[in-house]
Amino acid sequence: MRATDISDQITTILVTEEQIQEKLREIAAQVASDYEGKDLLLVGVLKGAVMVMADFARALPYNVPMDWMAVSSYGSGTKSSGVVQIRKDLDTDIHDRHVLIVEDIIDSGLTLSWLLENFASRGAASVEVFALLRKPDAAKVQVDSKYIGFDIPNEFVIGYGLDYDERYRNVRDVAVLAPHVYS
Ligand code: XMP
Ligand code: MG
Repeated sequence: MRATDISDQITTILVTEEQIQEKLREIAAQVASDYEGKDLLLVGVLKGAVMVMADFARALPYNVPMDWMAVSSYGSGTKSSGVVQIRKDLDTDIHDRHVLIVEDIIDSGLTLSWLLENFASRGAASVEVFALLRKPDAAKVQVDSKYIGFDIPNEFVIGYGLDYDERYRNVRDVAVLAPHVYS
């Protein structure tokens, strides 16, 4: 059985593996041209962005440094707490660096708006955001995101790095988790 054979645990597939890969190629081409001649640093937000970082970084036409940060604004449930905590800080001094934050999803926007302020205070030359997914109807704060993969409905989703209680991250598509799984 494939890890992705979870048809009894999801209601809808929102974005397929193929759609994701095509979008990553598009955005990689745009990023490559936007950052031409600049020294780019990709910062992935653990753990959800692991899959998007792996595929996106390899879609770029040059070798690029990557760093990781782990923050938490979520427990094991499905609602944002609004409290952001650093669990693992960057290894890189981002002073004067051009940073592109790679995120799995913008939900309330609280995590990213906090990260943007935090990175600005470290003196980055520029900070932009690439989020594979965004839930426009869930926004509590507006986040200025330069690159967005897909806008999706305000429902809890899993797959392609996104988890419920640490499961489903290795599912290849992005899908809506069936309510019976978490209720
Ligand atoms: P906020 O609300 O701060 O949320 O924009 C950002 C982080 O919350 C997680 N998140 C989700 N994880 N399915 C998930 O598996 C979801 O639908 C979902 N919505 C938010 C995610 O880690 C994101 O970085
Ligand atoms: Mg995340």
